[in-house]
Amino acid sequence: MTDTALPAAGTGAPVLLGTDHIELWVGNARQAAHFYRSAFGFDVVAYAGPETGMRDRSSYVLQQGHIRLVLTAPLTPEGAIADHVRLHGDGVRSIALRVEDAAAAYEAATTRGARPVEEPHRIEDASGAVRSAAVATFGDTVHRFVERNGYAGPHLPGYREDRRPGSGVGLRFVDHTVGNVEVGRMDPWVDWYHTVFNFDVFQEFDENDIATRYSALRSKVTRDARTMITFPINEPAAGLRVSQIQEYLDYYRGPGVQHIALHTDDVVDTVRRMRDSGVEFLTAPAAYYEQLAPRAAEHGVSEDLDHLRELGILVDFEENGYLLQIFTRPVGDRPTLFYEVIQRRGARGFGKGNFKALFEAIEREQAARGNL
Ligand code: FE2
Repeated sequence: MTDTALPAAGTGAPVLLGTDHIELWVGNARQAAHFYRSAFGFDVVAYAGPETGMRDRSSYVLQQGHIRLVLTAPLTPEGAIADHVRLHGDGVRSIALRVEDAAAAYEAATTRGARPVEEPHRIEDASGAVRSAAVATFGDTVHRFVERNGYAGPHLPGYREDRRPGSGVGLRFVDHTVGNVEVGRMDPWVDWYHTVFNFDVFQEFDENDIATRYSALRSKVTRDARTMITFPINEPAAGLRVSQIQEYLDYYRGPGVQHIALHTDDVVDTVRRMRDSGVEFLTAPAAYYEQLAPRAAEHGVSEDLDHLRELGILVDFEENGYLLQIFTRPVGDRPTLFYEVIQRRGARGFGKGNFKALFEAIEREQAARGNL
């Protein structure tokens, strides 16, 4: 965490180029790959496992637009992947960041206070070389630095091509990735992203904004102004009942990635395709759309409100536009990781106006699980 001896933010922070991939450690990568291909429309593009010399794991790489998910499962009960899956269930292990120079990024991040996880190293195969290193962030989550300039292989050395196209649903890039941390830890982690990566704090909410009758949370958004890589951080706030963030922390057994927001240019089409393929989304009450109609007319919402209501898509308004968003139910058995599908029409926020409707939907599910 932050330390008074660290250099001032802004000098020599790691230079990021964008999100390289997000790696999930899961119990069964083959079946998870099938789910993300058939339900989310991803292409399977690469594979690593015993057949490629990777003895302890099997790993599938899925791609849609600029979004790259890596699904990795352990082949034995020993080792870090099996330990992670036993403790956390399926979840995000790494938010990998593409960099020009992995050693320099690692050096900068660790000098500025990040805990080392993997020292810079070079891996190569017939397609070229990749340099990689990793540092810890909240919980057991890490940021891997990937330097792949000139590498021509399908993912990383050790992976082979595995071309199985999915149907594509119009998902284009990662809009933001949200972390849940323990009560009292949001500000230290926001400071950490500012100190280590020179991220700005973009917007913040507290329990006065984000509260329903029962549960509440606080949230701040950290963002790299240059690449727009965005990591909102949530912590539980006091409510009458158990915060949804606390439910996550209880089931994930600590801090971790709560949701990954994926951008589309046509949310109605994307969500319809995903729903038809079996993705389960949270729903909004009919009253939400009654309240929405006059505001939608006022803001010139071009989408058909009947379609939004039918699919349960939420709309939030800002001065300069609006955004459309919807959240999946948790994708695993534990009430932990879920996804958001988001389309922006001029709005830069995260759907603050929808938090009440969204949280009431989450709480209906939380209550059904006996955790409210
Ligand atoms: Fe979000």
